Amino acid sequence: MNRRHLIIAAAIAAAWTPAHQAMAQQQSVKIGLILPLTGPQASSGRQMLAGARLYQALNGDMAAGKKIELIVRDDGGVADQTRRIAQELIVNDKVAAIAGFGLTPLALAVGPIITQAKTPAIIMVAGTGMIVGTSPYFVRVSFTLPQQTMPIAQWAADNGVKTAVSVVSDYGPGLDAQNAFKTRFERAGGKVLEQLRAPLAAPEFAPFLQRARDLKPDAVFLFVPTPQAGSLMKQVLDRGFAEAGIRVIGTGDALDDEQLNAMGDGALGMITSYNYSAAHDSPENKAFVAAFRKANPNLRPNVVGVSGYDGLHAFYKALEKTGGDTSGDRLMAGFKGLSWTSPRGPISIDPQTRDIVQNIYIRRVEKKDGELWHMEFATFPNQKNP
Ligand code: PHB
Repeated sequence: MNRRHLIIAAAIAAAWTPAHQAMAQQQSVKIGLILPLTGPQASSGRQMLAGARLYQALNGDMAAGKKIELIVRDDGGVADQTRRIAQELIVNDKVAAIAGFGLTPLALAVGPIITQAKTPAIIMVAGTGMIVGTSPYFVRVSFTLPQQTMPIAQWAADNGVKTAVSVVSDYGPGLDAQNAFKTRFERAGGKVLEQLRAPLAAPEFAPFLQRARDLKPDAVFLFVPTPQAGSLMKQVLDRGFAEAGIRVIGTGDALDDEQLNAMGDGALGMITSYNYSAAHDSPENKAFVAAFRKANPNLRPNVVGVSGYDGLHAFYKALEKTGGDTSGDRLMAGFKGLSWTSPRGPISIDPQTRDIVQNIYIRRVEKKDGELWHMEFATFPNQKNP
């Protein structure tokens, strides 16, 4: 470097004031991801993180001229931790939004904080219908259980199932699923013989499944949060429902895509309704699944991975609508009415409720190229939370 260059460099350094530094920092916008990366819900945390990171890998980390920075924190699936981390992210890290929430109680725990701080929270899993109504700063990109359940209840009634027993996890989304199933199935002429609930913590499904089998219904309807699908299905297959002539149906949670292959051929033919299948036949999904599997060897994306991906998309687009303004109220206005093509199909954010509107598909487990897949064969289009 010659003397002239040195003088210019020194002049630039001198002009770089704290004000410039603050401006550069303002160019970065932070999202706090609060995920269960340890504990019983860890598979959901892993999927959300993989989906969010993949979105940035494929679409870059800039939106509305700002660098989008993810701050990832583990709540272990414990609501007190979720609440504490949300507070820290909002107060200390000055995040523009928080996102994640692997279980209903974890989302509910941040409601009062986001309302007070006017900070948006993007729900990437928690599926109890009422959650988004508890704060004007919630927006949901995942699903609701009534939305997921109604189509399989209708399909069952239309396809020869006259009696059913439901077995669900005993908390918000389980009760939502059970109520939605009974309402729709009975309106369509079916009869629910009994509604059984297994505790969420330390799940022991055997007594409930045995009771369901003893009642000899045409079908048993199942819901558990996706991380429990593997242990539930092992016990379902051990009980021999198929041999007893009892059909196994449910929302796709009970036959989680990530764990489907490990469930084995006993799952073949089972029918569920859900917003996402890794086998969804679209160019967007084929590209998504290939990129996801390349970035995460041995991991098949499930609904949670897609929600991590779509959650970031929603934030990027909302920020573009505000022209980079991160005020909570402007961002919330930005989320309302967004619509795009997700790997799951066409989706939108209801401008009135801030909840997800999407197709729900009826799928059958089939084997293709040596793997089990949920093959979609019917669509209930544009379903809102009923
Ligand atoms: C929930 O806690 O709301 C929840 C979690 C996992 C699911 C569905 C619902 O698969």
